[in-house]
Amino acid sequence: MNVGIIGSGTMGSGIAQIAATAGCAVQLYDTNQNALNKAELSLEKILSRLIEKGRIDTEEKSRIQNNISYTDTLDDLSNSNLTIEAIVENLEIKKSVFSTLEDLVSSDCIIASNTSSLSIASIAASLKNPERCIGIHFFNPAPLMKLVEVIPAIQTSQKVVEKTIQIITDWKKVVAVAKDTPGFIVNRVARPFYGESLKIYEEGIADFATIDWSLKKLGGFRMGPFELMDFIGNDVNYTVTETVFSAFYFDPRYKPAFTQKRFSEAGYLGRKSGKGYYDYAEGAVKPIPKTDEALGELIFERVLVMLINEAADALFLNIASAEDIDNAMTKGVNYPKGLLAWADEKGIDWCVTTIDKLYNEYHEDRYRCSPLLRKMKREHKTFF
Ligand code: NAI
Repeated sequence: MNVGIIGSGTMGSGIAQIAATAGCAVQLYDTNQNALNKAELSLEKILSRLIEKGRIDTEEKSRIQNNISYTDTLDDLSNSNLTIEAIVENLEIKKSVFSTLEDLVSSDCIIASNTSSLSIASIAASLKNPERCIGIHFFNPAPLMKLVEVIPAIQTSQKVVEKTIQIITDWKKVVAVAKDTPGFIVNRVARPFYGESLKIYEEGIADFATIDWSLKKLGGFRMGPFELMDFIGNDVNYTVTETVFSAFYFDPRYKPAFTQKRFSEAGYLGRKSGKGYYDYAEGAVKPIPKTDEALGELIFERVLVMLINEAADALFLNIASAEDIDNAMTKGVNYPKGLLAWADEKGIDWCVTTIDKLYNEYHEDRYRCSPLLRKMKREHKTFF
């Protein structure tokens, strides 16, 4: 199969590696020759490291490398059966690339975008045949993260959806099909992990280290929310929150936090700037959490119930199936359990009571219980 990838940055180069490993002939295109050179060099390093670790041999390395051609000419993508765009997150620029591309490729070539925040419908609208357009959303680093969200636009044909799922499954990824709505599954359902933790901090309930300790120790999360925001970058994480918030017509459930905005403005971006919620300078002392189990439980349960509520509401609004929502969170962001399975474990009664308690205290729409949870409680149902 011939695969054309547009944009050879962080995501495009990772997707090219996946397709080439799966045996596809890849044309990796970028307008910037430096970006192409960097992608080629970085693949060389990644594959050499895989050899050192004994995961692949030199023959496999050459096979993968030979499957990728680097080009600054869009015409070289004309034989593609599938193209995946991973360029700058700008609708006008994407639209112009897509309309040029459509005239080059055959009529049955699937034209996909890896966008995180634009609607697939708006991108598809730039094509003469919008039914061939679909979202294929990888996670960073693409070769390592198992999950891929597949997002049909309202214009996308069923045949294109099926073909795309088949291809991505053949690439040994776990597919979760999501509705074309802001944040798709992961970037929507994960918002309270950061947002509620920031609110707990802002209310003075606990400091960063204690909140992180609580979610790791009592929740089993691999990283605490503040460690994770520092890892992702406060600028990047804040922008995702703000984009989702405005795309949801300012639903208070997704409201960004001033703390994160100020950290971002101050340049306290996290690991990449040497300072975020924690100090990453050499010799810096890590703050000690307050390991008070009762306080920790309070924090963990508040964040967890907000995550469960978000996952339940995504199911209520048919954003994805229960299986895909749980898979998305365990395979896309390494949650220790699927949130809906977690809701079953805690009990639906517990979920409704806990979130209602928050609502009664704050009287904010942010804490409204999903109608699905309430209905399930009434009918004594579980998710699985
Ligand atoms: P990046 O900045 O690393 O790479 C973008 C590349 O596109 C650059 O090499 C640039 O030279 C090239 N480019 C820009 N305009 C072009 C054009 N008109 N024609 C051809 N090449 C062009 O960006 P990154 O992070 O790889 O993101 C790409 C896309 O993937 C965006 O839509 C982003 O929202 C999405 N995405 C990013 C994730 C991440 O964690 N970085 C995760 C999932 C999706």
